[in-house]
Amino acid sequence: MSSGHILHLEDVFKGYSGKTILRDIDLAISEGEFCSVVGPSGCGKSTLLRLILGQETPDSGAIYLEGKMIGTPDPRRGVVYQKYSLFPHLTVLENVMLGPSYLGLYGNKFASKNEIREKAMYYLERVRLTNAADKYPHELSGGMQQRAAIAQTLIVHPKVLLMDEPFGALDPDTREQLQVFLLELWESMNLTIMFITHSLEEACFVGSRLLALSQYYDSGETQFAHGATVVEDHALKRVAHSTEIKHSPEFQDLIHSVKASAFDPELNQQIAQFNLTHPDSFRT
Ligand SMILES: Nc1ncnc2c1ncn2[C@@H]1O[C@H](COP(=O)(O)OP(=O)(O)OP(=O)(O)O)[C@@H](O)[C@H]1O
Ligand SMILES: [Mg+2]
Repeated sequence: MSSGHILHLEDVFKGYSGKTILRDIDLAISEGEFCSVVGPSGCGKSTLLRLILGQETPDSGAIYLEGKMIGTPDPRRGVVYQKYSLFPHLTVLENVMLGPSYLGLYGNKFASKNEIREKAMYYLERVRLTNAADKYPHELSGGMQQRAAIAQTLIVHPKVLLMDEPFGALDPDTREQLQVFLLELWESMNLTIMFITHSLEEACFVGSRLLALSQYYDSGETQFAHGATVVEDHALKRVAHSTEIKHSPEFQDLIHSVKASAFDPELNQQIAQFNLTHPDSFRT
């Protein structure tokens, strides 16, 4: 059952064409948590996100948002993808105004266009794009486009901000800037975020909690046919405001340990050996 956490997944299984992709996912996430989710390519990270979004239904198990079983996608879950979150024929401001134009502004279906514009400008200011309001997406750099996509999502006040490789298409410098930017935004706005990446370094840097999904463990069944599950779930001790920390020995150790437990096909890790030390972690 739901546990008072904003997001709660219990015994979630999902497969395609008879092949298990996600196995027995148990997850409880508190409001204000910033979870980064990492795992080998193809392990089911995007599938997990689509399940939380309500675009897919689990084969078994349950997903609760604010204590209620989730249904089809709705504004309580906002999503930012690697690319194509913005409509190319609309300006940045129009893109940000789009959601409330259809959904209303925080439940007010009759919000005027002026009210929506004012709110959109507020969010553009939060993502430092005030000066780009009247530009079209193709006139923006990749990093600016992703910040616009974040504003477009935040304006409908999602309970959970879901991000699937949001910085995956950016050059390394811009990517680092956006990592720091997102950490600052999360802190200042008390967001609840689920951030998917296949970059180990990125996963160890952003967020307050690190989740690793992997199919590389010993379930007692034929290897690789059993689907991925949560093999690591622990708190990240610090919130970084600069990328300096990436050069510290502790950071490098963290990367190595997550790499070993989630990315090594040779490792026959037993379920009892998983590092599930986060206070909200559980296994049913
Ligand atoms: N709609 C679908 N129909 C059939 N198989 C699917 C479908 N969606 C995903 N899969 C399969 O499920 C597995 C997990 O896919 P998913 O996209 O969730 O992985 P991922 O961890 O996000 O990978 P990446 O890091 O490459 O983005 C893959 O083997 C994929 O081929
Ligand atoms: Mg994916």
